Amino acid sequence: MKEQLEKLKLQIDQFEIKQNEQVEAFRLKFLAKKGELNDLFEQFKTVPSEMKKEFGASLNQVKQKAQQKWEEAQSQFEHSKSKKNSGSIDLTLPAEASFVGSRHPLSIVENEVIEIFKKLGFVYSEGPEIEDDWHNFSALNFPKNHPARDMQDTFFISEDIALRTHTSSVQVRLMENQKPPIRAIMPGRVYRNEAISARANCFFHQIEGIYIDEKVSFADLKQTLYYFVQELFGQDVTVRFRPSYFPFTEPSAEMDISCLLCKGKGCNVCKYTGWLEILGCGMIDPNVLKASGIDPEKYSGFAFGMGIERIAMLKYEVKDLRTYFNNDVRFLTQFEGQ
Ligand code: PHE
Repeated sequence: MKEQLEKLKLQIDQFEIKQNEQVEAFRLKFLAKKGELNDLFEQFKTVPSEMKKEFGASLNQVKQKAQQKWEEAQSQFEHSKSKKNSGSIDLTLPAEASFVGSRHPLSIVENEVIEIFKKLGFVYSEGPEIEDDWHNFSALNFPKNHPARDMQDTFFISEDIALRTHTSSVQVRLMENQKPPIRAIMPGRVYRNEAISARANCFFHQIEGIYIDEKVSFADLKQTLYYFVQELFGQDVTVRFRPSYFPFTEPSAEMDISCLLCKGKGCNVCKYTGWLEILGCGMIDPNVLKASGIDPEKYSGFAFGMGIERIAMLKYEVKDLRTYFNNDVRFLTQFEGQ
């Protein structure tokens, strides 16, 4: 028995506790009810009484040693566990601010415009940015020698293919594929070969709208656009129409709104005219309807197109168009909206 106890003492000493699971393995092997120490305590009953004192003392010593080793190991692992936990979640630390992105000002304005026209029953439509001559020019009644077809204005990819210069190309695609009534709003990026400055860029964004049905008149056009600017800029905005020219509309007009800053009194934003130019519009030329297979005797329609950058510049009083595309977050995060 003495030998057994010596052996056990050695085993306890040599048992390596390197992982958390070994703490429990140690307990089971030596300290549990069915562990080896308890076995020896069972056998202790059979020890002759004159040896009981000495043997009992060494047995208790070994048990205490084992108990101590186990407790130390336990507290060591517990400690490192809680240290690990505190490393990942310290509930006393102030919360880290999470960075929420903001919508680009041009998207905010585009979405606002779309929402206003949606209320009037206009549906959303899109078309390709790389267009053929037919959809960008010919079907829109551009004469063969029109300056817009010139290399100065258009980025040509081949003789017949170019980056669209306006979203009016989507108008043609819709008219070709749908029967009136057609009521649609068509936003998109357009490209023009312009020198980059505070007021011009080689690409920008437009929103075009068309409404084609029986008996659509210029009065419908005026009322629709008047409603639109009042929704966008406020009820006290007034409008005026000036005669203009576009190959695809007849008659054509340019619409101005009363200056948002001076309310029509005259300031340097409106160049002391009291008015701000905002969009081009007109009644769709019968030639354009015909080219897309719509009978101009039966149907008429209006179209309008505006630059989103320009509207956003007026709305947010942005002076330089290039700031929209520099991706400076200090500029971009100033805008709030859907
Ligand atoms: N497409 C014209 C432009 O780019 C805008 C416009 C659209 C004018 C529809 C009239 C009707 O300037």
